[in-house]
Amino acid sequence: MKTIILAGGTGTRLWPLSREYYPKQFLNFDGNSLFQETFLRALKLCSPEEIIVVTGELYQFLVKNQIEDLGFSIPDEHILKEPCGKNTLPAILWGVNKFVKESGDDEIIVFPSDHVLSEDAVSVFKKSAELAKENIVVFGVKPDSPNTGYGYIKPGKKLPFGSIVDEFKEKPDLALAEEYVKAGYLWNSGIFMFSSEVFLSETKIYQPKLSSAFETDNPNYSTLESISIDYGLLEKSERCAVVPLDCLWSDLGSFKSLYQTKKCDETGNAGEGVFLNSKGNYVSSGGKKVALVGIENTAVIDSGDALLVCNMECTESVKDIVQHYRDIG
Ligand code: GDD
Ligand code: MG
Repeated sequence: MKTIILAGGTGTRLWPLSREYYPKQFLNFDGNSLFQETFLRALKLCSPEEIIVVTGELYQFLVKNQIEDLGFSIPDEHILKEPCGKNTLPAILWGVNKFVKESGDDEIIVFPSDHVLSEDAVSVFKKSAELAKENIVVFGVKPDSPNTGYGYIKPGKKLPFGSIVDEFKEKPDLALAEEYVKAGYLWNSGIFMFSSEVFLSETKIYQPKLSSAFETDNPNYSTLESISIDYGLLEKSERCAVVPLDCLWSDLGSFKSLYQTKKCDETGNAGEGVFLNSKGNYVSSGGKKVALVGIENTAVIDSGDALLVCNMECTESVKDIVQHYRDIG
C-alpha cells in the first residue's frame, strides 16, 4: 500500500486564520497540525518512503519541516511541488504516475490533509485493500445535515465488503442535498483507495487530455485543466465502490465545522470569548479579549490583522470574501 497526501489547498473558508502563505492544513489548532495528523495516520498503513505529498511550491518547506518535527523524513522527490494549484485530479494523477514509474502497480490511498479522523478508521482502510484492487473505493460518512460542501454517495448493490456506488454527486444544491439525506445517501469523506491500474485506466476514459499530459515525464502543469477528482472522475466512473466509515470524522472546512468539534458551554458558546445573553457562538481571537452581548449563532474570528464576523449558517461563503480581496488586489 502507498499513500498520497494532498496538501495544496488554500483553505479559503477558514480566512482569516487560514492564509495563502499558511493554509489551514499546516495550522496548529490543538497540538499537531492536520497535515501532521494525516502523516501519522499514513504511517499506520505504509512506511515513510511509500508516502508522496503533493503540495504547492509555496508550501514545500512547511511540509518538510512539519514531517521533520514529527521525527521522520521522506525522500525529497516525494514532495511534488505544484507551480500552481490545479485541484485534486491533476495532483492525484501526478502522485499515481510517480509511484507507478518508481515501483509499478500497487494499491494507493489518497488522504486530504484537512480532516479530523479517529484511529478506528485505519482498520477500515486495511480491510478495503482487496476491494480497491478492482474499484475506486470511496469512504462514506453518515450525514447529519444537508451540507452542500460535500459530495453525496448513493450506495447500491451490496458486496461481500462495501457496496457498489449507484450515484455520486458532488456539492449538490440545498434542495437536492435535503433529498439525498432523506434517501440515505452518504457524504464523501474525501479519502479514496484504488489500484493504480484501475485509477489510470478510468482517468484515460473520462479525462483523456489530462491522462495523456502525464505520459510525458514533465507535464506542463500550468496548462493543465483544473478539476477535482469528484467532478472529473467519481461522478462519471462506473467502477466506484463505497465503504462506510463509521467513526469520528470532520472536515474542518468551515468555521461551523470547526465550532462543532469544540467543547461548548451550556448555552452552546465555544472558544475564547466572554458571553453574556449569547448562544451558539464561536470566538477565536488569539488571546485578545472579546465579549459578545446578546449575540446568537455567530463566528467571530480575529487574526490580529483581520476580523471576520459571520453568521454561523453562512460560514461556507467566507471563501467569497477571500475572492473579493483577491479581485481588488
Ligand atoms: N496538492 C493539491 N493541489 N492539493 C489540493 C488542491 C490542489 O490544487 N486543491 C485541494 N487540495 C487538497 C486540500 O488541501 C484538501 O486536503 C483536499 O485536497 C480536498 O480539497 P478541498 O478543496 O478541501 O475539497 P472539498 O472539501 O471542497 O471537497 C472534497 O472533500 C469533501 C470532504 O471533505 C470532495 O472530495 C468532497 O466530495 C468531499 O465531501
Ligand atoms: Mg475540504
